[in-house]
This record gives sequence, structure tokens and C-alpha cells, in this order.
Amino acid sequence: MSILKVARIGTPVLREIADPVPERALGSPEFERLIDDMIETMHEYDGIGLAAPQVHASTRIVVIEVPISEENEEDAEAPLTVLVNPIVTPVGERRVLGWEGCLSLPEMRGQVIRWDQIHLDAQDRHGNAIDADYSGFFARVIQHECDHLDGVLYVDRMEGMRSLCFVPEFDRFVADDEDVPCA
Ligand code: NI
Repeated sequence: MSILKVARIGTPVLREIADPVPERALGSPEFERLIDDMIETMHEYDGIGLAAPQVHASTRIVVIEVPISEENEEDAEAPLTVLVNPIVTPVGERRVLGWEGCLSLPEMRGQVIRWDQIHLDAQDRHGNAIDADYSGFFARVIQHECDHLDGVLYVDRMEGMRSLCFVPEFDRFVADDEDVPCA
């Protein structure tokens, strides 16, 4: 496995529409290696999610893992999840404001409105169908990651830039006891 270079905002691949993963690619050595490398890269940079375009691969693969931590509420935990060709559909009308960070915009945080509840259609790395509803923080992370597959960054979703801040200022002036991990 390898730690991959993370693309930062300004890199064109982050603004492309990523290609669907063809059925025949499932299980191939390249597919398996990319997923393993994405997981290792996410762990290396303490991310809770990573989309393939963030490691210069314009393909519709996402990895997510939200470890339990002292700062996290218990219901924010999410097991290691691999999504291939995910499709997100909002459920209901409720939207919630929350802080986000992104490995492609290092050292910054901003507030983003997301759907509180979503339906997810995807495949896992073995080709098994995922067909389920999610809510709360996990739903937020899924939306953030799936946006990357369409060339969208969280700053595009912000209703104005007034909450945008650097991490030291976030810790100092906003919430020094709140951990906002990157995705
Ligand atoms: Ni991100």
C-alpha cells in the first residue's frame, strides 16, 4: 500500500465530473490497490473520508471512516465504508448547518448546510449493493464525499464565506472543544 498525494483546491481534477467505475473493473488489481491506497492515505492524514479525485483519480470511489473519539458524539461513529458509484438522494426537507473541513482545503473550516437525511444507492468494493438511508453526521460526510465526484467542494455549498476560518482561529474563537475532522 502507498500514501498518495492529496490534490489541493486549484488542481483541475477536483473540478472534473469523475467517471463511473465500470463493472469489469471491480476486483481488478488496480481497483483494489486504489481503494487500499485511499484508505491508507485517509488514515495518514487523519481524514474521516476521501474521494478518488482527491488523490488524482477521476473515478467514482469514496472511502469513509469516522472513528470514535472524545470529541465525537457516539452517534457520529461510522465504520470503514467503501462506496463505488454512489448516488445520493435527499429524504425529506430538513437541512442542517454544520462545520466541515476538507483535506483538499488544508487548515480551514466552514459552515455548510446539508440534507439531514439521505438515501444512498451504491456498491461496496465487492460489488454488493448498498441501498439504505442515513442521517446526521454520517449523512453529512457522505454528501461531502459524493460532491467531490461531481467536482464540488464544500466552499461551493456555503451560504456566503463569513464562517470560513483557519483552524487555529476556529479553535480560538469558535469552539476549542469541538473536533471538526477533514473529509
Ligand atoms: Ni473533502
